[in-house]
Amino acid sequence: MRIAMIGTGYVGLVSGVCFSDFGHDVICVDKNPEKITSLNNGEVPIYEPGLDELMAKNAAAGRLSFTEDLTTAVKEADAVFIAVGTPSRRGDGHADLSYVYAAAEEIAGNLSGYTVVVTKSTVPLGTNRKVRQIIRKANPDAEFDVASNPEFLREGAAIDDFMRPDRVVVGAESDDAIEVMNEIYRPLAQRDFPVLVTGLESAEMVKYAANAFLATKITFINEIAALCERTGADVAEVSKGMGMDARIGPKFLQAGPGYGGSCFPKDTSALARIGQDHARPMQIVETVIQVNEAVKRSMVDKLLDLCDENFNGKKVAIFGATFKPDTDDMRDAPSLTIVPALVGAGAKVRICDPQGQKEGEELLPGATWHENPYQAVQGCDLLVVLTEWNEFRGLDLKKVVKKMNTPHLADLRNIYDEKDVKRAGFTALQPVGRQGFRKE
Ligand code: UDX
Repeated sequence: MRIAMIGTGYVGLVSGVCFSDFGHDVICVDKNPEKITSLNNGEVPIYEPGLDELMAKNAAAGRLSFTEDLTTAVKEADAVFIAVGTPSRRGDGHADLSYVYAAAEEIAGNLSGYTVVVTKSTVPLGTNRKVRQIIRKANPDAEFDVASNPEFLREGAAIDDFMRPDRVVVGAESDDAIEVMNEIYRPLAQRDFPVLVTGLESAEMVKYAANAFLATKITFINEIAALCERTGADVAEVSKGMGMDARIGPKFLQAGPGYGGSCFPKDTSALARIGQDHARPMQIVETVIQVNEAVKRSMVDKLLDLCDENFNGKKVAIFGATFKPDTDDMRDAPSLTIVPALVGAGAKVRICDPQGQKEGEELLPGATWHENPYQAVQGCDLLVVLTEWNEFRGLDLKKVVKKMNTPHLADLRNIYDEKDVKRAGFTALQPVGRQGFRKE
């Protein structure tokens, strides 16, 4: 199959690279000339484990290329994927569809021969039909169908998620479109990864409903964690006990400082808006959004407690600023709520994050960045673990304690064992959803 991928953001780039690895001919299109030049030079603009090798391999095999020229890419394609951004619109939380519709317009004028136009971007219900209308209006003679093919990959595990998905969802209405989509995903179907074919609206809804459900699961355990702290229960034991019920499952029950990232915050607000627009308010989702904001803010209170109610002049080390490990993405990261609160209250914040500095420096003014975790904790009165990067798990905690002024630890991802923390000489530990200790 010949595939044109419009947009080389996270989803577009990973999908394009992986499709080429399936053996398809893929041309990735982006309007940003610098991005195209650097992609053609083999430079990957995002940090995603394994992506650079896979990109290099398929580019060398001649199956993967990058261009600004949408016209030729679309003309030659059997399927054109729209993978442009759908950010939250400022002010109202709706998904901003202007990039999707602009892409549809541009694609319309260049279609040649039967083509399936596939939306991979996360889009509200009805968008695929709108894309179809736009194309039909702009090019009444075009031979095409639309299909919806939402993407479920997680940052940091994107390639594995794409290559070994729990399922592929394809919303399509014509046999021809289904045939093309089945052909594209044959390498997965052959290895027994299920391809679920649905109607257009159902496919659009699956993506929102799945993300909102996962955000709800996390938020639920975060509320339980807060109650565990008050009642003597340990949230890790509770998660384990809950997760052993096959109806619940163990995943996405890790308590922490609140969910962030490019999808959950954006998609939960979009779903809430869709509900309001259809007079079917998504009350659970609306509450999840509010509770998640409250969870992030409540972390600041935890830290304040460890700093004896006063951040002024205190030195605070932050381990991890990205919204999760193995990514350089700072979008809606809990650090964006927590660090400004600390800086605003007079703390001197020292951040160590293996990948976050490039994006984070501008977003978190007033903090200093340190490559080495031992250097970051130098002279600090509090160490806060915000993102569970592997490199923080195996640190020499004794060495950390020696470098600190007041060895207090807020382990907001519960990555350290209380015994190890005590043995290392920390004088206070505040985890999430369990007791911790404080030596006077
Ligand atoms: C998510 C969905 O998982 C993916 O299917 C969709 O395509 C895009 O959105 P992503 O945002 O990359 O993926 O990361 P994910 O691993 O889902 O984590 C999202 C947030 O939830 C992170 O801030 C993470 O720290 C938090 N989280 C996740 C928890 O706090 N606890 C958990 O148990 C799991």
